[in-house]
Amino acid sequence: MTYVVPYSGISNRLGDDEIKAVGEALRQDTLAMGPQGKEFERLLAERLGSPHAQATSSCTTALFLAAQVLELQPGDEVITTPQTFWVTTWPLQARGCVIKFADIDPDTLNIDPTSIEPLVTEKTKSIWVVHFGGQAVDMDPVMEIAERHGLTVVEDCAHAAGATYKGRALGTIGDIGCFSFHSLKNMTTGEGGAFVTRNDRYAEMARALGTIHNYGEMLERDDQRIGPHAQPAYYKDAHVLRSYTHDYAGGRYLVGNNFRMSELSAALGIVQLGKLDRLNERRREIAHRLDDGLSGVRGVDVQHEKPYAHHVYHLYTCFYDPEVVGAPKDDFIRHLQEKEGIEIVIRYFPIHLLPEFRALGHRYGECPVAEKTYFEHQIQLPIYDHLTDAQVEHMIAAVRRGVAELGGGR
Ligand SMILES: Cc1ncc(COP(=O)(O)O)c(C=O)c1O
Repeated sequence: MTYVVPYSGISNRLGDDEIKAVGEALRQDTLAMGPQGKEFERLLAERLGSPHAQATSSCTTALFLAAQVLELQPGDEVITTPQTFWVTTWPLQARGCVIKFADIDPDTLNIDPTSIEPLVTEKTKSIWVVHFGGQAVDMDPVMEIAERHGLTVVEDCAHAAGATYKGRALGTIGDIGCFSFHSLKNMTTGEGGAFVTRNDRYAEMARALGTIHNYGEMLERDDQRIGPHAQPAYYKDAHVLRSYTHDYAGGRYLVGNNFRMSELSAALGIVQLGKLDRLNERRREIAHRLDDGLSGVRGVDVQHEKPYAHHVYHLYTCFYDPEVVGAPKDDFIRHLQEKEGIEIVIRYFPIHLLPEFRALGHRYGECPVAEKTYFEHQIQLPIYDHLTDAQVEHMIAAVRRGVAELGGGR
């Protein structure tokens, strides 16, 4: 079907400046581990006001690094939100952690801080929040709970590049922030992400573990030889040089991975980062126009920007009321898709109800707010930087027509 307002698979519209930057990077001696990556990291750290930012191949790999540097162990409990893309929890599952789902705030769809504390036990180690759709989680109460119980906090900022909480960049409030620069995100490097932290030790660990090194506490060896062989002067590789001079204390070390971003992605990221405010401003303009057009439609509520948040509208969420309209949400979505040509992608199916979590005993009824909101109310309309005014007006008119046709708003 050709949509009037398509949604899935739509990236930022790139310009000549992105094409030029990537073209120049293609002429470099190296396409990996070169100047673009270093510059992108420097600019990103500066932009976020963070001492450390490490470019990664995706947000998923940044999240895997987060779980690894926090040294989460099998059986450790981690509290997170059910209203996210499932990959938020994958590094936790991979490490054998026990995942506890807090419920959400039905307006922001973010984790509800009041539902976190009842889940804390002596096994809880960390809280993983997701700034849903580009609007900040209410971080102060989350950080207070974390401090009270000695927990770390990871911010999944996949939707939230450029968003703030009380003026502070998201990703810099908890212990670690993980960003996505996937093609669909507010700024893109094609595929890509970043691991951000204020903690020097986490930064040092992530730098090693994400770039094909391993990590462990080292002790200097008495004998600086391997058998009869002394260290040759021509070796450059620190890892090999250390083999002559050091041992891992207790033999214990963490195994690294290759989560690096390529030079081409970083070159694209440098240009996109320079446009981030403009790209976000365009999303905010569209969101405010939709808010204005939809407020006053009985049976549809708009989402509110919290006073503490600068919302960057990676997603535009609104709420349908089946009781007011007199028809279930699915009928309304069918109207928007089939009659109005608006491609609807609802994010996200509450992840505690995915088969892998049901197999662990999670069940319907565990997070009633997330469930009711998802099954009955939440809708996302398409949003991206190059939506036209005509498409935006079409969505407003289509929502009004849909509600009227389904019987509504009476
Ligand atoms: C909340 C959330 N976390 C993590 C990710 C993973 O991002 P990436 O595709 O960069 O691995 C996504 C992707 O959409 C996401 O929405």
